[in-house]
Amino acid sequence: MLSSVLALVALIPAFVLAQSPIYGQCGGQGWTGPTTCASGSTCVVSNPFYSQCLPGTAGGGTTTTAGTTTTGGTTTTGGTTATSTSSAPTSSQTPAAGNPYTGHNIYLTPFYAAEVAAAAANISDATIKAKALSVAKIPTFTWFDTVAKVADLGTYLADASAQGKSSGTPMIVQIIVYDLPDRDCAASASNGEFSIANNGQANYFDYIDKLVAQIKKFPDVRVVAIIEPDSLANLVTNLNVQKCSNAQTTYLACVTYAIQQLDKLGNVYSYLDAGHAGWLGWPANLTPAAQLFASLYKNAGSPSFVRGLATNVANYNALSATTPDPITQGNSNYDEIHYINALGPALSSAGFPAHFIVDQGRSGVQNIRQQWGDWCNVKGSGFGMRPTSNTGFTAIDAIVWAKPGGECDGTSNSSAARFDPHCALSDADQPAPEAGTWFQEFFVTLVTKANPPL
Ligand SMILES: *[C@@H]1O[C@H](CO)[C@@H](O)[C@H](O)[C@H]1NC(C)=O
Ligand SMILES: *[C@@H]1O[C@H](CO)[C@@H](O)[C@H](O)[C@H]1NC(C)=O
Repeated sequence: MLSSVLALVALIPAFVLAQSPIYGQCGGQGWTGPTTCASGSTCVVSNPFYSQCLPGTAGGGTTTTAGTTTTGGTTTTGGTTATSTSSAPTSSQTPAAGNPYTGHNIYLTPFYAAEVAAAAANISDATIKAKALSVAKIPTFTWFDTVAKVADLGTYLADASAQGKSSGTPMIVQIIVYDLPDRDCAASASNGEFSIANNGQANYFDYIDKLVAQIKKFPDVRVVAIIEPDSLANLVTNLNVQKCSNAQTTYLACVTYAIQQLDKLGNVYSYLDAGHAGWLGWPANLTPAAQLFASLYKNAGSPSFVRGLATNVANYNALSATTPDPITQGNSNYDEIHYINALGPALSSAGFPAHFIVDQGRSGVQNIRQQWGDWCNVKGSGFGMRPTSNTGFTAIDAIVWAKPGGECDGTSNSSAARFDPHCALSDADQPAPEAGTWFQEFFVTLVTKANPPL
């Protein structure tokens, strides 16, 4: 269960690069990063806080007058267009049966329950221990990040099927499809088991076939699937990263195969991962993102069980912030609801179903990051809003917990092969173990800082 969710920023620490990539930041108040742009792009002033490298013109070397600010960091950032944030998106395409969460109970994954039980056993404070144990009753998604884990899905589905029959209420099993070749192309913490150079696409198709074979045995259980966190968002903003540009064709082929094969089952509702407000939510990224989602969807034959998009997966953004976190300065879409309300109409007009699920599992505490692009084990995080399909927003099918709280985002050990510098930043909780493994101290903090409280 790895999950890196990074804002592309990830790879572009301003102090390392001499030039900003296309769509990268190149100026603004307090900006201390590069003020020149990659070849083929030009630095354009968006507003006093933000200048961005936009494709075209002279290329290489254009600078802005920049300014002086404090925001840096958010490289994917945009800011060239004004954005409406008030209208709720409407969909032009509705999957067969509407909101998949309606009328169903959500299966509690025994693997996570066991992790939580083991963690609680090591907590001596009785009050905190009781709160920790209560987390096992909150549904999370299960990350199928290796082929080896796929067999577990059959066990969960069988279990869920039995529970549904005995209660009379059908069950949902929530899964994350996460095994692309050259996975996590713009960061390091969650690199996967397959490589494009070594038969990765065929291996991925086989992985999907194995998921399909398990699900096919249990048509009475509904599956909600988040498809490939970060993958398409990386294709929107990170094609300047060689590993991402090299992976583009393969990612598109693999995601297309995944949604087509899952669609044929008739009981799997898919949400493509759409990054978060601080990534694709920058105004300049909204239209390119909507176009990419829509073109992939149409080229796949408009699968009827592609329900929409998943946002904030494994990230820390608020659904609806009381006030904008200062790190979001320059982006009018400073939380997930602003992002969703801005992206929805663009999706609808491009012909993509504009329904959303939003991860709030670790979003309980806000204003604790140094930079919006910080995504790794953010220190001081608390569990957030509980999963519900009663979201208060017609565009949002459900609030979910996609990242199981307590499972690590990435190691802080700088000698480790999958070390990502984000996991050693001052706002990252340390020492942190490998991505996906249990991080006890982080879990205890999530419990004690939960908002609403556990
Ligand atoms: C709990 O404590 C035991 C004994 O110290 C240790 O072996 C185990 O790894 C701990 N588990 C967690 C989840 O911290
Ligand atoms: C850090 O990673 C290196 C390389 O894998 C390993 O040898 C070392 O023991 C690790 N250190 C810690 C504290 O885990």
